[in-house]
Amino acid sequence: MKFFIDTANVDEIRKANEMGVIAGVTTNPSLIAKEGRDYAETLKEIAAIVDGPISGEVKATTEDAEGMIAEGRAIAALHPNMVVKIPMTTEGLKAIKALSAEGIKTNCTLIFSANQALLAARAGATYVSPFLGRLDDISQPGIDLIRMICQMFDNYPDINCQIIAASVRNPIHVTDCALAGADIATVPYKVIEQMTKHPLTDQGIEKFKKDYLAVFGQ
Ligand code: E4P
Repeated sequence: MKFFIDTANVDEIRKANEMGVIAGVTTNPSLIAKEGRDYAETLKEIAAIVDGPISGEVKATTEDAEGMIAEGRAIAALHPNMVVKIPMTTEGLKAIKALSAEGIKTNCTLIFSANQALLAARAGATYVSPFLGRLDDISQPGIDLIRMICQMFDNYPDINCQIIAASVRNPIHVTDCALAGADIATVPYKVIEQMTKHPLTDQGIEKFKKDYLAVFGQ
């Protein structure tokens, strides 16, 4: 499983990129709005930092296929690594079909059922983004959805669509997604940091330092 970082904060993106663990970035209108900066400029700056797929979503105010296609073309023109994120609706599927016919990569977002994922894959989406945390929030096990989509896509070798496990909230989500077989997990910076931690690692570092200093000094 690969990692993308799920943020529009360029400082967090730079830090994660320097660690060498991220292969791409996902954003959404909420994440970009949180940064309070120009939408397109933020995406361009992100694409200049990470050499991998960068998902930029059509604005939440665009609901018809024509509008999404026009916006998708503009997002794709920002950088060769841009992936156009489109919500799962009938209009969204039409936009995915049109954009993928033009060779533009798409990420179908707000996936909450296996059937939605299958439809997006058949429309030509490069990626689907099932949201596990938001399902957990309403007492439905989100990981079951990731497992179902992995199994469904495995049944049909002609499906090339990659699964991005999204709405990842903690390190257990990450482990579960990797065991389920998700292609990618997109994770907030906080979760990347949490994943690096283990109390025995900290204790081990302290003991190595103490033992070294006792014999060799500074
Ligand atoms: C990524 O594609 C999604 O936009 C994101 O993971 C949503 O996460 P949230 O449910 O924590 O807002």
